[in-house]
Amino acid sequence: MLNVYRCWICGETYLGEEPPSDCPFCGADKEFLKPGEEYEYPDVELTEISKKNLEAALELEVDNATFYFCAYNRSDDPKEEGMFKRLAKVESEHAEAICTFLDIDEPKINKKSEDCSHHLPDLLRDAEERETRAIKHYSKFAEEAEEPRVKEFFEAIVEIETDHLELHAHEIEELGEEH
Ligand SMILES: [Fe+2]
Ligand SMILES: [Fe+2]
Repeated sequence: MLNVYRCWICGETYLGEEPPSDCPFCGADKEFLKPGEEYEYPDVELTEISKKNLEAALELEVDNATFYFCAYNRSDDPKEEGMFKRLAKVESEHAEAICTFLDIDEPKINKKSEDCSHHLPDLLRDAEERETRAIKHYSKFAEEAEEPRVKEFFEAIVEIETDHLELHAHEIEELGEEH
């Protein structure tokens, strides 16, 4: 029997018998996947500072999604290629969620960017830097947010980007062992 779970962070819906360990769309922890009927729209009156921070976060997400699409296009290793494609979609989902807060249309994300390395170790290091930068900004944005829903959102994406950072560190370590 399929159940309807809706993610409190990105608003996407997962259909399954059990909630997955993380949101398949935005990567949020299982605790945020609530039964569909418990979901509430993030209808928040934004303070000036949160509006400014959400706009900055949107820029970071679009930039990182574009990078991951590029990394996906450039990779020929089935595992890394798959990982980059998923991360591109996760960051696109973050951008979309931010647009919901800002009540604006989603910006177009360039899926054909060629502005990244061909070399896997460089791509992974670039990815690490990007996630580190995002974590740093979002931690500050979470602190500055007065609206509980915005604070919760930034805290959740700090967790998600930290998971990405750990994934990249692990991939870099594995590469080192292979050579
Ligand atoms: Fe989600
Ligand atoms: Fe993100």
